Amino acid sequence: MPTPPFRTRSFRTISICLSVVAEVAVYGSSAVHAGAPRHVNYSRDIRPILSNSCYKCHGPDAQERKAGLRLDKKDGAYAKLESGDRAIVPGAAAKSALIQRLTSHDPDMKMPPPDSGKTVTAEQIELIKAWIDEGAEFHPHWAFVPPQHVSAPKIKTPYAARNPIDLFIITRLEEEGLAPSPEADKTTLIRRATLDLTGLPPTLGEVDAFLADRSPNAYEKLVDRLLASPQYGEQMTRDWLDAARYGDTHGLHLDNERSIWPYRDWVIRAFNSNKPFDQFAVEQLAGDLLPHATVDQRVATGFNRCNVTTGEGGAIDEEFYVRYAVDRVQTCATITNSIRSRKKSSIGCSATSAASPNGRWTATPSCRRRQFASLPSRTRRISTD
Ligand code: HEC
Repeated sequence: MPTPPFRTRSFRTISICLSVVAEVAVYGSSAVHAGAPRHVNYSRDIRPILSNSCYKCHGPDAQERKAGLRLDKKDGAYAKLESGDRAIVPGAAAKSALIQRLTSHDPDMKMPPPDSGKTVTAEQIELIKAWIDEGAEFHPHWAFVPPQHVSAPKIKTPYAARNPIDLFIITRLEEEGLAPSPEADKTTLIRRATLDLTGLPPTLGEVDAFLADRSPNAYEKLVDRLLASPQYGEQMTRDWLDAARYGDTHGLHLDNERSIWPYRDWVIRAFNSNKPFDQFAVEQLAGDLLPHATVDQRVATGFNRCNVTTGEGGAIDEEFYVRYAVDRVQTCATITNSIRSRKKSSIGCSATSAASPNGRWTATPSCRRRQFASLPSRTRRISTD
């Protein structure tokens, strides 16, 4: 099926993609595997190590950078340093200063510096060595790499695979020397599917009906029923509402109740009705400014009011108005950044840099930080709710 362009994709599609990406990210994060050695992957295996242990002093922040060495970019990592060494010599771990520093026993040479509080394990060093020997390839962030069609792998063992996804899972199990678990019984299956898709356990009546349904597509029917239920939207929009900082109370001072649930229900309806993502975003940011705005579109702007607010009588308006503006800029940045579009101009990249004090995470340099911050701040000027 051809993928529709980003702006016409629905919030529903994007949320599902995000869940899948999250699963893949978790799955991909275990760096060392027991089975046959696998090709080292920069994004999965190497960047997290360098990012955690080295970027603080050898990363994008020019002011914090030590020894003129930048390890988040290929050019920097391959460059001839002031010392005359090269941190990375592709294809030759033994000649790479980075490996000499990682394996050094001299505290003055050792990287990361012993007093930095950072450590790199022996297994991680082996991975970095293997990566350099394999050519030390750098890849751009996955969000900027267009997805490519991959054919399903061939499996060696005769396990029943019902669809191509099974083939990928079985291949990985084979790599790990594992066999699939026995199939779950029907009661377990309906419980898992219902909890996963609606966040709720099935009722006894639903379990009985599923057990009584002996048709070959009983499971498909169950999943269709769950996907069509309003509770599916409730479950799937939890992540969005968390990221939007939705809460049923104000969050500060007495933390009193806040009646903003109509916004929550709007998000759930938007998901269940497959609202296109561009409309979903526009209505939340500025639904009230649309021509002939409907009540629903106004309710959508509840998004701009989800930040914590105080109810304290002595609160200084100016102080809280700035705090709220910062909160909303960061929230917009987080939310839009998590929806990484393939278009490099996606708002997320520039928005995050707007919230970052020195723009160090800028993926697109044309950031208008002040303008962005003025967006939410224009919407309210008093501190107490
Ligand atoms: C807390 C800061 C800090 C961290 C974290 C850090 N370094 Fe360094 N690094 C330095 C400083 C300071 C120098 C320059 C002094 C020296 O050469 O020892 C340096 C020098 C280097 C050099 C030699 C550069 C040259 O000019 O030859 C390499 C290679 C290096 N670091 C690699 C790493 C790697 C790989 C990591 C992560 C595993 C790391 N560093 C983490 C501070 C840091």
